[in-house]
Order: sequence, then structure tokens, then C-alpha cells
Amino acid sequence: MSILALETSCDDTCAAVIEWDGRIRANVISSQGVHDSFGGVVPEIASRHHLELVNLVVEDALTAAGVSLSEVELVAATQGPGLVGALLVGLSTAKALAATRALPFAPVDHLQGHVAANFLLASAPAEPGDLPREAPFEPPFVCLIASGGHTLLAHVRERDGFEVLGRTLDDAAGEAFDKGARMLGLGYPGGPALERLAAGGDADAFSFPGSRRERARGGRGTARQAFARSLDFSFAGVKTALLYRLEELAPAGDRVRADLAASFQGAIVDALVLRAEQALERLGLERLAVGGGVAANGELRRRLRGLGISLHVPPRVLCTDNAAMIASAARYVRALPYPDYLSLDVYATGELALAA
Ligand code: KG4
Ligand code: ZN
Repeated sequence: MSILALETSCDDTCAAVIEWDGRIRANVISSQGVHDSFGGVVPEIASRHHLELVNLVVEDALTAAGVSLSEVELVAATQGPGLVGALLVGLSTAKALAATRALPFAPVDHLQGHVAANFLLASAPAEPGDLPREAPFEPPFVCLIASGGHTLLAHVRERDGFEVLGRTLDDAAGEAFDKGARMLGLGYPGGPALERLAAGGDADAFSFPGSRRERARGGRGTARQAFARSLDFSFAGVKTALLYRLEELAPAGDRVRADLAASFQGAIVDALVLRAEQALERLGLERLAVGGGVAANGELRRRLRGLGISLHVPPRVLCTDNAAMIASAARYVRALPYPDYLSLDVYATGELALAA
């Protein structure tokens, strides 16, 4: 018997079927490329596209899995956080699917989903650059989730919960990559484009707030010390610094743009690696899992591998938003019997009390 899950918290319409042991039978993701020309996700357009796509995506997932609805034992969907209109499409569709067969329903927190991507068996194809991955990564570990919408450090003690150690106070890491890329005249999503530009640049050419170079120089007194104690992230400063540098150096030639991209990327990666390292040290752990779209960044992976700890990066398709991770988390959520879930609503921000 299988679990069917839906994920529609942002701009990807996703449905997946997994088995209780974590085997993925189908993991369908329909990405809405329409947002690229706007330079970011337009919530209203995302909801409308989810509405058009959701039934097709569910059908595709069931077909690809070779499973009929009568073989589904549990239905799940992302309840939040995310774009309300987008979440509503997935949650309503999933509740309706469950209700037609009086099946139980599991509401899943999106971030718990990213954590639970680590508990899947890696039958999803790994892409070049992904680390080898055979078995689930078992708690306890620290999980760094860095995407366009979230940047979070979580202490995962058990499979059914996590404790937030730190989160971003302003932009998410992926958002910072996207905004930096836009300033450098690159397309959206900016992360991969900025990484490509950075490949030809010198990461030590410019000093940005939060970078190793800045810290080595002593940074800024008390603010620096206070920040070092916290496991929270802030990317507003590095973004503004890039803006000022670009203004000072305008018109920046190819060499300077590449150096700026490399230094900017270096500062973001430094912040992520430093906080992850601090979290591991504080907890006395040597196990780190990474999720979210920014996990694809080569420099981040290289630096994390350099920590000499046990590092787990799921295949890229499981790092970015997908429904297999939601199905995985659903296994550890208290499912509601029919019809108790019919009045469930979505939530835009925050997370459930998930601490184990
Ligand atoms: O997890 P994700 O696919 O979607 C959500 O945000 O939910 O993450 C997308 C984010 C974008 O901000 C994108 O620029 C960033 O991940 N990203 C990268 C790379 N690939 C994607 N950032 C840095 N380097 C990359 N190679
Ligand atoms: Zn996500």
C-alpha cells in the first residue's frame, strides 16, 4: 500500500507516490517556467497554474507508479508555510482525493518535508555532481535548508520532528543569489547563472560582509561578536554591498563582474558553512544534511565536504521542492481520519510545533 502526496507551496506543482519503507514509486514535478520573465514568482499566476496542472500531475504520478487510488493508503499535502493561494490548491485537491475514498489525511509542514527528504531511499536518479547516496540518513544530525524561500538550520533528533537552531532574519540564501544575479544582469533563477559567472572570478577580489576575508580582518566590533553567537543568517548586508560596489565600479567589465560574482557567492557560502559548523560544534555532532535549491551550488558542496564530517546531500531532485519529501514526512505525522481533516486550512508562515 502506498502514500500519495501533493506539494504546491510555491511555483512547482508536485505529486508523488512512495512506499512506507521510503521507496519512491513516482515523483512528478511540473515547474512553471512562466515566472522567469517576471524575475520571481508571481503568487496569483502560480495559483492559477497549480489549478490547471494539479489533476494532470496527480494522474501522471499514479500512472508512473503503476498504482490506482484504491491502492493508496494515506493521502498527504503541504499545509504550509508558502504562498496561501498555491498551498490551497494542493491541500484542497488532496483532501478531496482522500475524502472520495474515506482515506486518512496527513497535513505536512514544508520544512519538515525538506528534512524528511533525507529519509527516502535513493531510487530517484542522481544528477552529475550529486554525492553518492544509498541509504536514508538517520538522526541525530543538523540539517541546513537553503532555498529561494527559506534558510534554516535544524537540529534533527528523531525522524518526526526538528528544532530550529537558526533562520534568516531577512532574505533567504537563494533569494540573495537571485537578487545578486539580477544586479549583475543575469537571468532568473539567478543561483546557477551567478555560479557560472563566479567560476571565472576571484573570490578574494572583494571583501563582502560575512565573508571569511572580512572576518579575518576583524569585521565590525560588537555587531560581529553578537552575530557570531547567533545561528541566524542575514544576507541583506552582502546584497547592499554588491549594489554599492557595482555603482562604484560602473561600468564593470567582464573580469570585474566575475570577481564580484565570486566574492558575493563566497560571502553567502561562508555564512552558510560557518553557521552549520557552529551548530555542529555546539551540539557535538558530526553529521550534516543539506537541502533546498542552493544545495546544488558547487562551491557550497566543496566547502562542506572540506569540513571532514559525515555529509549527506540528497539527489538534486529531492533537494528542491518535490512531493516525495512530503510523502516521506507524512509517514511520521499523526494522520487524521476521514472526515476530521475536511476543515483544515493552510498557513503562510511559521511552522508547526515539530520539536521532537
Ligand atoms: O528549493 P528551490 O528549487 O525552490 C524554492 O525556493 O522553494 O530553490 C530555488 C533557489 C533559487 O533561489 C535559486 O537561485 C537557488 O535555489 N539555486 C542556486 C543554485 N541552483 C539553484 N543557488 C546557488 N547556486 C546554485 N547552483
Ligand atoms: Zn522548499
